Amino acid sequence: MKWDDNIIESLAWGKAITRKEEKERVAGRIAAMVKQGDVLGVGSGSTCYMALLAIAARIRDEGLHIKAVTTSLEITMACVRLGIPLANFEEYRPSWTFDGADEIDPDLSLIKGRGGAMFREKLLINSSPKAYIIADSSKMVARLGTKFPVPVEVFPQALTYVGHALRELSPAEINLRMAEKKDGPVITENGNLILDVWFDAIPSGTEKAIKSITGVIESGLFIGYPVEIVDVG
Ligand code: A5P
Repeated sequence: MKWDDNIIESLAWGKAITRKEEKERVAGRIAAMVKQGDVLGVGSGSTCYMALLAIAARIRDEGLHIKAVTTSLEITMACVRLGIPLANFEEYRPSWTFDGADEIDPDLSLIKGRGGAMFREKLLINSSPKAYIIADSSKMVARLGTKFPVPVEVFPQALTYVGHALRELSPAEINLRMAEKKDGPVITENGNLILDVWFDAIPSGTEKAIKSITGVIESGLFIGYPVEIVDVG
């Protein structure tokens, strides 16, 4: 039985979507790649949301049967609202994954995690046979760390220790990510905190160096992953 009064039905994307036309174009390109029976790994952010809108239209128009494994609550809720069936990661391996990014450098290394979902995003990208990064033109940078800090998800009790250990990597600045509509810090869907770490330079070993700190759950650095970029074309 379905709920007859579902608060999720009335939800739209929370914020104004920047570069909407470009995002619509890359979303259309991703939706065109979906095949009957696919289990899609779905990343987070507004570009992924736009892709879900385009995929939902194909489900309606063509009777496509697919499932989505999601990386965040907002994307799970978008799937519920759009009638896109959900699948558990515990049971289903994605046929392929699409995700957005905050920065992409010329080697296709990425910074992700503006939305705080980098742990599950990395889990899906690593577990998928193929991963596509959908990006508008604002995402390309000459050097990672130009516009965005590296987000680091931290087990709460380890915050001070992790902050101290991160200083060994000579960051320019470390900030605890604060919430906007609650007091105190952002709490991730895994119950953790996020440190936003600015670097003047990000050598290739930085991702592993951050991950090796006890108390770090995951970072938003994706250095040298075999992703394919789907841009506006
Ligand atoms: C979410 O945690 C991020 O990794 C997103 O993929 C990223 O912030 C892209 O967001 P937009 O598609 O909204 O630009």
